[in-house]
Amino acid sequence: MLHYETGQQLNPLLPGYSFNIYLVAGTTPIIENGPLDFFIDRKNGMSGFIINMTVKGRGKVFDGDDAFDCNPGDLLLFPPEAAHFYGRAPDSPDWYHRWIYFRPRAYWAHWLKWRNQVNKVGRLTLSDKALITEFDELFQQIEQTYKAGRRSSEELAINLLERLLIRCFEETPENRISPIDQRIEQACQFLSRNLAEEVNLAEIARHVCLSPSRLAHLFRDQMGVNIVRWREDQRMILAKHLLHSTCLPITRIASTVGYDDQMYFSRVFRKRVGTSPSEFRQSSEAPPACCETPEAGVAVQAQP
Ligand code: FCB
Repeated sequence: MLHYETGQQLNPLLPGYSFNIYLVAGTTPIIENGPLDFFIDRKNGMSGFIINMTVKGRGKVFDGDDAFDCNPGDLLLFPPEAAHFYGRAPDSPDWYHRWIYFRPRAYWAHWLKWRNQVNKVGRLTLSDKALITEFDELFQQIEQTYKAGRRSSEELAINLLERLLIRCFEETPENRISPIDQRIEQACQFLSRNLAEEVNLAEIARHVCLSPSRLAHLFRDQMGVNIVRWREDQRMILAKHLLHSTCLPITRIASTVGYDDQMYFSRVFRKRVGTSPSEFRQSSEAPPACCETPEAGVAVQAQP
């Protein structure tokens, strides 16, 4: 399925699909000699994560010494840097797997470090039937929600995905419970309360009683990204929400999330989201009712 003007692949099950979005979910039914019976081979990984779960038949991942099979109830997590090489196990007539491609929220880092790994690919085997059913339903719910095409579909799907990742974390036997350091939690809250302000490292460090270098180090360690990147991600999440759910002019949204320079905001937005803020707003299925007049003259519907 190709786009009629750009020639781009529109079917995520076939090679060439761009995956330039925050979440895509699907199920790949591979049947021996069927149209999808080929090995997925992405040597350099992808720009987002993939989580997948085998629901029927058997899959084979990697070749040679690293090769392993996956059976119903096996989950795999591919971080961006992991190579993808998987397909139907040659001795199985089929391999059905559900999958979700996603760009994680900044604060998910903790749930994305799976302890059991082969070639950077995280592995988790669900131990009983009830768990397999629970996870399978969650995958299906995420796929249906993402495909529903409502204005908040993506956010709702991401919300369910967060649940899935937390459940994976809970079901991983090796996970010692090591909660996020309270000072890092406080730093996140402080940053969120002051999202639009340019608070600097020294100020945050003072607020949580750590030295700036210790804070920077601990933050990166616990959250998986540095403070500036974490705040940028939070700003983009809020900006996306405001673009879809209010009629605020884009300059106003830019300043609400901390960018006085709208051009700079648009550049960051494009880099992180893949489209300009106005394209993102137009992609909304049903814009808020007050958006019927041109942007400059619209009434403000909601405040953050
Ligand atoms: C599909 C594959 C699936 C997953 C997504 C991103 O083509 O069947 O396993 O890799 O791409």
